[in-house]
Amino acid sequence: MSSTLHSKPTIQLYDLHPPLEDFLSDVLSGLSQRHKTIPPKFLYDKQGAELFDAICTLDEYYLTRTEMGILQTYAPAIATLIGDSALIEFGSGSSQKVRILLDAMPQLTTYVGLDISKQHLQSSCLQLVDDYPGLEAIAICADYTQPLQLPTISMLAGKRRVGFFPGSSLGNLEPAEAIEFLRNVARLLGGEGSLLIGIDLKKSNAILEPAYDDAKGISAAFALNLLTRINRELGADFEVNDFEYQAFYNAPKGRIEMYIVSRKAQIVHLKGREFSFSAGERLRTEYSYKYSIPEFQTLALQAGFQSQQVWTDAQQLFSLHYLQSTQPD
Ligand code: AVI
Repeated sequence: MSSTLHSKPTIQLYDLHPPLEDFLSDVLSGLSQRHKTIPPKFLYDKQGAELFDAICTLDEYYLTRTEMGILQTYAPAIATLIGDSALIEFGSGSSQKVRILLDAMPQLTTYVGLDISKQHLQSSCLQLVDDYPGLEAIAICADYTQPLQLPTISMLAGKRRVGFFPGSSLGNLEPAEAIEFLRNVARLLGGEGSLLIGIDLKKSNAILEPAYDDAKGISAAFALNLLTRINRELGADFEVNDFEYQAFYNAPKGRIEMYIVSRKAQIVHLKGREFSFSAGERLRTEYSYKYSIPEFQTLALQAGFQSQQVWTDAQQLFSLHYLQSTQPD
């Protein structure tokens, strides 16, 4: 099902997306907690995914351009390590970063994109097969933070698997969840598997905080869009203007904390239930953990991945790790 000169490119699409009830039950249980929170994966509806793409182009958000610079600089070395494996991208989004690898790897024929945002995933996979004629793409719409088994796909048979998880999205999981997630990734990649993963490094508040609370207010719009989504898809009545965004670096915990804060005492209705917010009460939307290189290597080792190579930019803002699975098949 690859592109040819004569037919429109096509991709294989597998929809393993969780049903709407999962969204509802996660929101209900998140709003019922003493410290209200909603899992960050729900930030990425169509609007959320577009807002996140806009964040990635902001001056303050150094992560994307820095990681892309590292990929660009070391693409030939990375291409040698990957060889002709099947490349499996977790959270492929707009698939911009994988293009840097594909440009350096004309030998690569099999690409699997995994993402929760179906439209985004589908259109970016189609664009990839259009732009790289030798490439076959499989799009899997799934919540990759949950244990996942790939469907039986003939294109993957007998191929070594290399995972690609750019963007430091691992940082959006608590460290214990991150270890669990990496263990699942190791299982999915198999005994010979490797993982190329981007991890944001610890640094000063002066650089970190503006990256998550930018002057144009895109980070704020991204977080507040979650309330709009809950209103639209689940029929809640959040007054979005009565909430504001807050983000700061919690240095002892090594993480950015992001919240939606209630500007006043108010009650929100959802599916016949009432959720009260006091003035200043917070609803956590995300953590974004930052690691030193040795901290991340220790975490990866606990999940069954041995560090093989690490690359960084000159300012040591961001790191890219090539890990080898230590698990037998
Ligand atoms: C997707 N993830 C790596 C982003 C981050 O940097 O933690 C999510 C984000 N949220 C607000 N800005 C960026």
